[in-house]
Amino acid sequence: MKINNNELYQLIAKLDWQLNMGAEAMVEEEHNNYFNMEKVKTKKGELSTSGISQEINNAYLQEDEKNKGKILQESFDKCLTLEDLKNCMLDFNGCDLKKTATQLVFSDGNPNSNVMVIGEAPGAEEDRQGKPFCGASGKLLDKMLASINLDRNTVYITNVIPWRPPGNRAPTENEISLMKPFLMKHIEIVSPKMLVAVGGSASKAILNIEGGILRYRGVWKEIRLSKSLVIPIISTLHPAYLLRAPNQKKLAWEDLKSIRSKLQELND
Ligand code: URA
Repeated sequence: MKINNNELYQLIAKLDWQLNMGAEAMVEEEHNNYFNMEKVKTKKGELSTSGISQEINNAYLQEDEKNKGKILQESFDKCLTLEDLKNCMLDFNGCDLKKTATQLVFSDGNPNSNVMVIGEAPGAEEDRQGKPFCGASGKLLDKMLASINLDRNTVYITNVIPWRPPGNRAPTENEISLMKPFLMKHIEIVSPKMLVAVGGSASKAILNIEGGILRYRGVWKEIRLSKSLVIPIISTLHPAYLLRAPNQKKLAWEDLKSIRSKLQELND
């Protein structure tokens, strides 16, 4: 088909409009039917090794908050390994984001490392690859880590939300509080020596703090997960924010230096 320059400009303008509206993929021959849950790729059954996920699903259906909390706690207590937790999340049907995402984005990096980095939620590239921070902001995160001699062999990375919110919107408070018990269990199983909350959503989910991240970034706090498990945590600026506001990189650099000193302190 031959098109003239005028038609070409119109096609480019339409494509540009679609990209601005949040379109990220072409409709392919085989596509997800978001209205038919059965066709959503959950790998259900394939990886389910225990009844824990069923208990968790049932707990979320409970209306009695006290009972719900008890069943949830008992079910999470049975998740002993990352594999257990991943299976539970693969089979968990309580969060609608699962219906629109391509797949669960569980984690990347080394689960035996001292540093656990927690982001907000997967974006388009993470949704495609099933790996956290592998898009543009992930590349900047890698550079930030490299500046203090860390990389994905020496850190473990996950997100508060394991499924991509449609159109890359921010996760809602409800979605964050729904997935928080999974995140806390994730932290407990990994038991890192320190946590780095990247961006406001991760900081608010873990620390229950209000207000903008510029007010509390760079300050060490602690979270207590059990009598014997207390983990230092620092909040820093999200690389996606730094890509939009590069003049704030100096603040992130202060946080990175603080992480480096804390690591040295903990290793001494
Ligand atoms: N932003 C996040 O917070 N997490 C990712 O995995 C990717 C982008």
